[in-house]
Amino acid sequence: MTAPKEAPKTGAVHPARVFSGIQPTGNLTLGNYLGAVKRFVEMQNSGIETIYCMVDLHAITTWQDPSDLKRATRELAAGFIASGLDPKKSILFNQSQVAAHAELGWIFNCVSRMGWLNRMTQFKDKAGKNREAASVGLFAYPNLMAADILAYRATHVPVGEDQKQHLELTRDIAAKFNNDFKVDFFPITEPVIEGAGTRVMSLRDGTKKMSKSDPSDMSRINLTDDADTIAKKIRKAKTDPDPLPDNLEALEGRAEARNLINIYAGLSGDTPDKVIADHAGQQFGQFKPELAELAVAKLSPISAEMARLMNDVTEIDRLLGDGADRAAAIADPIVAEVYDIVGMVRSRTGNRHTEGNK
Ligand code: AMP
Ligand code: TRP
Repeated sequence: MTAPKEAPKTGAVHPARVFSGIQPTGNLTLGNYLGAVKRFVEMQNSGIETIYCMVDLHAITTWQDPSDLKRATRELAAGFIASGLDPKKSILFNQSQVAAHAELGWIFNCVSRMGWLNRMTQFKDKAGKNREAASVGLFAYPNLMAADILAYRATHVPVGEDQKQHLELTRDIAAKFNNDFKVDFFPITEPVIEGAGTRVMSLRDGTKKMSKSDPSDMSRINLTDDADTIAKKIRKAKTDPDPLPDNLEALEGRAEARNLINIYAGLSGDTPDKVIADHAGQQFGQFKPELAELAVAKLSPISAEMARLMNDVTEIDRLLGDGADRAAAIADPIVAEVYDIVGMVRSRTGNRHTEGNK
């Protein structure tokens, strides 16, 4: 991956800084891995400053059992590290430990517009038919996401395809803030949505995205699945009776087949074009065992390492605390400046935010 150097479109030059987040709600799936975590690791290793967050404040926009949430947060941290994120190279932490997120989130609640949020398709999907019963937090979710990113003035955000609309809103919020207060303060963040894994689909239905929250566990591969489970899920994945063609265009209308080719490409690092050319003419009876073998080879070391890390929760908590200290050292002065720009009087001695006061 080529390292992006700076964010475009504002007069101020913001140094390249990557931020992304994942909700600690249930297992990490193969979708999260290929769409997000794998690329987090590539960006970390390309030498850019990288900050990755377990967004526990986002998680509670829908009901979470408190003890499950703690476990899921630690398990997500273990999943990050087992996948190759290095707490020395990247800043890894959980959102609620850095107050700047909630603070800037409130400011953005006052910058963002109801009309903008009303267009968010994720809210519509998650709230379902009974919108009256959805939490206010679920509606304002994208404002907090903008705060996550802009509290660091991050310039690049690697995510899966489903987050594109939220990142457009982040850009709108940054631009409106800059414009309302006549400042050139926030960068206009670039989404980084690339590669074969940006939209991994359900193994049961090639038109639905693979999701932690799908009621059927057979629809997804979890990073905690053992080798037999991974192989079984791939063997039982929905497909069609036709053999694989020799080019991607010929897969038009065969969503499940296309998804398995993409997954193979995401795991192997080859392009989908190469994968289809290499497997042209195969029946799924042949292709699936090869895919299963590849998936097990790539994923089982991750699940073994996750299990090992989860044996020492104290160490995980220590790493998250250390990451949160480093994150706050960046975000607090930025939020201090925001408070000043907005016109808040800051006069308490010992206030975290007085540094930015003018
Ligand atoms: P979430 O689990 O919703 O917090 O998503 C965390 C990250 O994983 C985001 O960048 C999503 O875009 C990405 N992601 C989630 N599901 C998928 C999927 N099925 N395919 C590709 N990326 C995904
Ligand atoms: N909304 C993202 C998701 O559900 C998670 C998220 C929260 C995020 N804050 C973020 C992603 C900031 C990127 C940057 O997948």
